[in-house]
Amino acid sequence: MFNFVVKGTAFSSVDPKNVNTFENCLFCISETGVIGKIIAPESEEYDQIIEEYSAKNKFQELAPDQYILPGFIDLHIHAPQWAQAGTALDLPLYDWLNTYTFPLEAKFADGDFAETVYSDLVTKLIKNGTTTALYFATVHREASRRLAEICSEKGQRGLVGKVVMDDLEQNPAYYRDATTAVALEETELFIQEVLELNKKTPQGVYPVVTPRFIPSCTDDSLKGLGALAAKYDVHIQSHCSESDWAHTFVQERFGKNDAFALNDFGLMTEKSVMAHCGFLSDEDMKLFAEKGTAVAHCPISNAYFGNAVTPVAKLLHEHQVEVGLGSDISGGFSPSLFDNIRQAVMSSRMLEDGVDKSCCSEKRGVSGSSITLNEAFYLATAGGGESLSLPIGKIAVDYAWDIQIIDSKELPIFSEEEPLMTIFQKILYLSRPKNIDEVWIQGRKVHDKNKKELEV
Ligand code: GUN
Ligand code: FE
Repeated sequence: MFNFVVKGTAFSSVDPKNVNTFENCLFCISETGVIGKIIAPESEEYDQIIEEYSAKNKFQELAPDQYILPGFIDLHIHAPQWAQAGTALDLPLYDWLNTYTFPLEAKFADGDFAETVYSDLVTKLIKNGTTTALYFATVHREASRRLAEICSEKGQRGLVGKVVMDDLEQNPAYYRDATTAVALEETELFIQEVLELNKKTPQGVYPVVTPRFIPSCTDDSLKGLGALAAKYDVHIQSHCSESDWAHTFVQERFGKNDAFALNDFGLMTEKSVMAHCGFLSDEDMKLFAEKGTAVAHCPISNAYFGNAVTPVAKLLHEHQVEVGLGSDISGGFSPSLFDNIRQAVMSSRMLEDGVDKSCCSEKRGVSGSSITLNEAFYLATAGGGESLSLPIGKIAVDYAWDIQIIDSKELPIFSEEEPLMTIFQKILYLSRPKNIDEVWIQGRKVHDKNKKELEV
């Protein structure tokens, strides 16, 4: 009845604040890579299922020091910028784009270069426990399609956007769409190609309508992209209210904030994910909630380019906005969502307390801003799944078997009586990629630390 059964202990978010532990449960995985049943040790069928699937050689029992986490969902990452990750972090957004990032992205006209960078990135992300990623590629359709193919081949669930930047004044001549019409034609072709590729990709690859951000696009391309997203019912992504400069630029152009401007073009939908969002007003947040549009919180990147800490607690609890976590490579230097979970907690605490001692303590911070480790874990997993409207990010029946198996042997655990939630905290704060033993996506093992070859 099931394809295989795994016995182990898992952690999964129930909601933003609460994490559930599944101690020594059986996870029964269907033919399609979905969790069909979870059986607790006290259940009558527990022993019999173990016996049955052991006899069929379809039973895996984790070691006592191994733990299961849902695979991470990177809700905002620029695949081409992997080539400059960890560098070029010395300039503000506008200068960073023009000095480093546009010249780098222009190189992806070269298919061989794209192939090399994208293959390496997808492999590294999987090793870091990222089972789904929402990617910006570049303006080039061919290279963007190649990224989707590489995700498909390596077994990762990829949502990929060919970037649109057609404004002749805002973008350099060496890196932009030739015309608005070409931008829209290429986007439509890209959507059709990736929808076709999805048919033979069990874990799913999805095309994403991707206006880079309002400053790089004309009104006509924004309008055309909204129409394409509606025509094909596909995801949408962009940058929204990131940095003083970008936020002010949009206010001056449209007399309103990004969220309302994007909404005018049909770009704020249930399937939209907007990155950063550090400068949202209360009205903007209400619009996000009403439209079901998600925020991709990128805490490492925001420390360099955001000019503000995104108020995650307020988004989640005051406005019930969907929020996930993004690495924003290479605005953020780390491909690891473990690192971003840690930074999300730390940034929120600095927003809560404030940082300038010359300001009196009552006025220094924004009370109610700090988030817990559980909440940051939620962003990287279940929150990302909800943001994408896909059944991923949780250990629960009918969710994809997208998981990472963590080896806790080298973590500082010195007592057999350590509570599971204490172990959970140590895993989140102290794990490194080398502590990830295996990664599974849609019921297929895509990474095994002890084997060189992927079993895809
Ligand atoms: N705004 C427009 N493009 C980008 C980008 O590549 N990275 C970030 N962080 N912000 C952007
Ligand atoms: Fe970004």
